[in-house]
Amino acid sequence: MDPVTSSPDDAPSLEVSGLAYAYPDGHQALFGVNLTVGRGERVALLGPNGAGKTTLVLHLNGILDAGSGTVRVAGLPVAKRNLAEIRRRVGIVFQDPDDQLFMPTVREDVAFGPASAGLRGPELEERVLRALKQVGMEEYAARPPHHLSFGQRRRVAVATVLAMEPEILVLDEPSSNLDPASRRELADILRSLDVTVLMVTHDLPYALELCPRAVILSEGVIAADDRTRDLMCDGKLMRSHRLELPFGFDPRSAGVPSA
Ligand SMILES: Nc1ncnc2c1ncn2[C@@H]1O[C@H](COP(=O)(O)OP(=O)(O)OP(=O)(O)O)[C@@H](O)[C@H]1O
Ligand SMILES: [Mg+2]
Repeated sequence: MDPVTSSPDDAPSLEVSGLAYAYPDGHQALFGVNLTVGRGERVALLGPNGAGKTTLVLHLNGILDAGSGTVRVAGLPVAKRNLAEIRRRVGIVFQDPDDQLFMPTVREDVAFGPASAGLRGPELEERVLRALKQVGMEEYAARPPHHLSFGQRRRVAVATVLAMEPEILVLDEPSSNLDPASRRELADILRSLDVTVLMVTHDLPYALELCPRAVILSEGVIAADDRTRDLMCDGKLMRSHRLELPFGFDPRSAGVPSA
């Protein structure tokens, strides 16, 4: 093995290097993004509307193809020849759970990924149940997803991804449209998981609560990368990227996660 290439065991969960991308209509959304996320880190990806956050996320499992630059997941390049393995390693929870739930029952939706990866029988059943338990939805296994509430569907969407035992969990706006109790319960779930997390969010208190580190993506580049609290206490930086804390929220006195 090439000694220069890091082995999957010590490679960071995610390495994005010089990533640039223009949509087919010519609109350039990313202008050279560099971002490394270590094993087990939880990182918030912040930035105003149109900054390129979703475009970046879509590169992490090869839905979009790098115009230039590279993305590696635990050392493995995101490239056509590796897509099956990359999609096992990168679990993306999209903003709208209806984009990822399409089977007649919750159990089948959660089983879909691992079954496609070759799991069968009791092993598959055990994997599905474990993922549903992690999100507190094991009692809903036989229900059709479209009979569940939005917050319940979001949990099932998280379970479909956890069932793949991903290297990195990527969540696009996980707290949007959740009631306060569901929002807190999802935070408890995310905190309890032993997995690398990259969380896109406009919910800044949520980012502070869950992610010790945050990056700001602005106009297609990483404009800041720091401890979440330090970043949020920098009023000038926040304003210059259209990031506003909720009225009365003081990041100095809010609880901060342990790394
Ligand atoms: N399919 C597309 N074709 C052309 N341009 C696009 C396409 N999708 C997104 N864009 C543009 O790329 C830029 C980045 O969009 P993106 O969706 O990544 O932003 P975002 O940071 O996720 O924003 P938001 O916070 O609103 O979700 C925007 O200027 C957007 O208009
Ligand atoms: Mg987006």
